[in-house]
Amino acid sequence: MMNHSKLMLGTAQLGGKYGIANIAGMPSFQKSCELIQYAAASGIRYLDTAPGYGDSERIIGNCLKRMELNSRPNIVTKLPSIQRLGLKTEEERKQFVYSSIASSQKYLQLCALDTCLLHDPGDMYYQSGGILTILRELKEQKIIHKLGVSVYDLQDIELFLDFDCFDCIQLPVNLFDQRLIGNGMLETLSKKGIEVFARSIYLQGLLLMDAANLPEPLKLAKVPLESLSEYSLETGISIKELSFLFVRDLPGISRIIVGCETIGQLRDNLRLMELPPLNQERMQEIRHLFADVPLKIIDPRMWS
Ligand SMILES: NC(=O)c1ccc[n+]([C@@H]2O[C@H](COP(=O)([O-])OP(=O)(O)OC[C@H]3O[C@@H](n4cnc5c(N)ncnc54)[C@H](OP(=O)(O)O)[C@@H]3O)[C@@H](O)[C@H]2O)c1
Repeated sequence: MMNHSKLMLGTAQLGGKYGIANIAGMPSFQKSCELIQYAAASGIRYLDTAPGYGDSERIIGNCLKRMELNSRPNIVTKLPSIQRLGLKTEEERKQFVYSSIASSQKYLQLCALDTCLLHDPGDMYYQSGGILTILRELKEQKIIHKLGVSVYDLQDIELFLDFDCFDCIQLPVNLFDQRLIGNGMLETLSKKGIEVFARSIYLQGLLLMDAANLPEPLKLAKVPLESLSEYSLETGISIKELSFLFVRDLPGISRIIVGCETIGQLRDNLRLMELPPLNQERMQEIRHLFADVPLKIIDPRMWS
């Protein structure tokens, strides 16, 4: 059996109705616990959460406590955007950071956070890097063990590389979003010893949607989705497998995050972990087919 520890469970789905194709809604507390328990029992070693994901942190904390595991999964949580709050003084910003971290510790029921990411990459350089100074302080006090940033694009990563205080990064990559592939960026991060968490491998579920049933703002995705469907028929490889395997085996990726609402979805993703890699020819064909998918499709922030 393949090592499942490369798979990381995304938990935005547990704290709200998340995802472009979501019809099941948010799972109950009991169902969320069963999902987390199933993940831990299957060898998943990392959970991704954030204060911005509704009750996700609290659910994780309560579920893990109930489970009484010998070794619990690592938890990656985030610091909400500071620059958007517009706090005027350094003291106010410091207070906010300390109280947000304390709140994550409380909900997750942890004495120290395993990993904390800036949810807003703009906070790296906001107020001349003042937020990072506060986070470094928390790391020195061993309240946070690892620091990182959740990014959206290449420019964010270029800025990220200017700093030497980060241990990890979370970034989007999928069949349609190849902005970070082929330019050596993933390899550069990996060579620097940065842990790379890849998210959006199904683009919030968009890649698995029927091209004929897209909501209005995403009608633009009809053409690439139809090409994907044709390619899947031609090769006899399902869209789900293509989506998963394309990211799983990219060089430089440490872990892949999948957001799941149900144990069925998680089981399915664990099954995909067991499959052999796509061959180089397929990888090249995919690179060529989806090299230029418009930003309006690949960046969910533009879907409103
Ligand atoms: N800026 C950030 O830090 C940031 C941003 C976005 C996400 N995230 C993290 O990344 C995680 C994943 O979110 P994402 O946006 O990247 O989504 P994703 O993992 O690309 O897609 C997740 C969606 O795909 C569908 N799915 C997953 N496995 C499936 C399976 N085996 N069969 C059929 N459908 C399946 C589900 O959608 P249905 O609703 O269709 O069931 C699920 O909600 C989140 O939970 C969160 O932890 C972080």
